[in-house]
Amino acid sequence: MTPTESVTFYDQHPFDWAPADDSTEMKSVVSPLLAEFINKLDENSLVLDIGCGPGRVLGFLARRRIRCIGLDRSRVSLGLAIQRYSRPGVVGDNLHLPFLEGAADAIISDGVIHHTEDPFAAFTENFRILKPGGQMYLAVYKPSGRYPALYRFPGGFIRWALNHSWARPLVTLLFQVPYFLVHFVRSKGKRTWPGARNLFYDYFVTPRVAFLPRQLVEEWCAQRQGRILQYDENRGQNVHSFIVAKEPAEEQIRLNKMDAKNLAEEVRRNA
Ligand SMILES: C[S@@+](CC[C@H](N)C(=O)[O-])C[C@H]1O[C@@H](n2cnc3c(N)ncnc32)[C@H](O)[C@@H]1O
Repeated sequence: MTPTESVTFYDQHPFDWAPADDSTEMKSVVSPLLAEFINKLDENSLVLDIGCGPGRVLGFLARRRIRCIGLDRSRVSLGLAIQRYSRPGVVGDNLHLPFLEGAADAIISDGVIHHTEDPFAAFTENFRILKPGGQMYLAVYKPSGRYPALYRFPGGFIRWALNHSWARPLVTLLFQVPYFLVHFVRSKGKRTWPGARNLFYDYFVTPRVAFLPRQLVEEWCAQRQGRILQYDENRGQNVHSFIVAKEPAEEQIRLNKMDAKNLAEEVRRNA
């Protein structure tokens, strides 16, 4: 899968299902840990929402009058975000962020890096642009729960069928219609067909998904001198979330010195 194909996917199916002006529903779709993270932010913080999509979280930040910038690889998604919430935005790639090192007080990465070609590189880029002492909210797909199996099947069949014009009506009839009805009932009539279709595509058709265990994220944090402050398993949900702090500059220098000392000792031992 090339980056261009992935752009096309979220351009055609932005992660957009809730009416932008429905604040009750917006609140209910921001996880409790993210809501807590946002509520603790200083008004003067600069928050970068990397992979902001059509701005679900930017809207939440905008209501709190927090300075924020959205970035997304999908021009269509970003366009929706800017139009709705009048916040600045950049079309860009999480793997090569167009921001200076230490530019952000806080980073939000909600359901994004697991869609990139290299989740660790995306994580590292987020960390690079976070200022020492800053914090990142990170939500990624977890390997437990039913979603990994559902993405394989029926997801595998759905992706196959959508590539064959004669089989597409089967997807609509067998999967999309029931999916819409369930969501329509659960949302008490709020879910529209286009909204449910976008969710359906994000769930079953999105071309690239990685399931990232907690231990792996912990290892990444250790490698990048990050410290996990909070973890939420989000029982019953597809993603788990982390709040990670980037060690302050002095602590980084200390850790780098320790790394250098350990390395020197290892070299001596092996000599
Ligand atoms: C599931 S949506 C999440 C959107 C938003 N964070 C939210 O929670 O509402 C994933 C988003 O990640 C974006 N994305 C995927 N790969 C990306 C990359 N390499 N660089 C920037 N954005 C990317 C997609 O375009 C899409 O808008």
